[in-house]
Amino acid sequence: MALLVLGIESTAHTFGVAILRGRDVLANVRRPYVTQKGGMVPVKVAQHHEEEYEGAMREALGKACVRLEDIRLIAYSNAPGLGHALRIGAAAAKSLALRIGVPLVPVNHAIAHLEVAALVTRARDPVLLYCSGANTQVIAYDAGRYRVFGETLDVGVGNFLDTLARNMGMGFPGGPAIERLALDAPRKDALVPLPYAVKGMDVSFAGLETRLKRMVEDGTHDARDLAFSAQEHVFAMLVEAAERAMAHLGKSELALGGGVACNRRLQEMCRIMCEERGATLFCPANEFLVDNAAMIAWAGLLMHEKGGIAVAVEDATIRPYERTDEVEVTWRQ
Ligand code: ATP
Ligand code: FE2
Repeated sequence: MALLVLGIESTAHTFGVAILRGRDVLANVRRPYVTQKGGMVPVKVAQHHEEEYEGAMREALGKACVRLEDIRLIAYSNAPGLGHALRIGAAAAKSLALRIGVPLVPVNHAIAHLEVAALVTRARDPVLLYCSGANTQVIAYDAGRYRVFGETLDVGVGNFLDTLARNMGMGFPGGPAIERLALDAPRKDALVPLPYAVKGMDVSFAGLETRLKRMVEDGTHDARDLAFSAQEHVFAMLVEAAERAMAHLGKSELALGGGVACNRRLQEMCRIMCEERGATLFCPANEFLVDNAAMIAWAGLLMHEKGGIAVAVEDATIRPYERTDEVEVTWRQ
């Protein structure tokens, strides 16, 4: 029977525990940190994770109908993310590994987003458009690494949307609120002109963020029009960067990852681009797009079984600033 693996996610706002039996996701428990007004404070996020740990563990074991002692491998997200938050997940993983005496695998969160897309869709060798709160990257496998072909030069697209929502007086996460506002925009053909910054395969949102902040303060535009126009601009930028990477690499699959990829308009724009160039779009269900522990468990299992990766408890560190392309990919041919 396939190996039982437990995954722990704690890079940012979500604390997650998942249990997989091989490719089967038996439990994928998510406990996100949310606010009614304003953004995330790292210390409060860590406190949230600490409080949620026990309940999330019990729920995952209960849903999967397994005992802790049956687990054969533990994977945890060790990078990149908020130091405060990462430390909680790492401490939990280490103490569990000591208690039940099983191998421990540290997993890069961005790589997990990519690997889970290949697990839950039929994608084989996709370009990943990874767009979450803190990260915005166009990633693909090439010569032993997941290489970053394009990325944001300043803030992540999710943080951009969260800031816009906060400036409009809404809470965290702001992406879904902006999506709802945009859907209500009275005129879908009336684009408010905004900066559009694509540099090669890189993108930049800072100028757009400042311009929108002023527009919100001035009160000259309907918030729904601003939400709609902001989405149209930033998503077009992302699609352009992703398409350029696909053309450059000669790859014909695009996979989506990260919370912002839950956005229906972004999915639609990606689908149109793929259809126009004879490529295929792979979009996992929302549960696997947002931060989740199933992707950590799955990447950990691959890394361990195909790449022989495991660390001793004393070497199980966190790497808040690790980049996707720093990880040597030993588990892929
Ligand atoms: P990472 O650590 O990978 O950077 P993250 O911590 O930002 O991830 P995710 O769950 O991948 O976490 O993404 C969260 C982001 O996704 C938030 O910025 C949120 O506003 C955004 N988001 C969620 N749903 C939507 C949506 N429907 N439309 C746009 N943005 C969304
Ligand atoms: Fe993420």
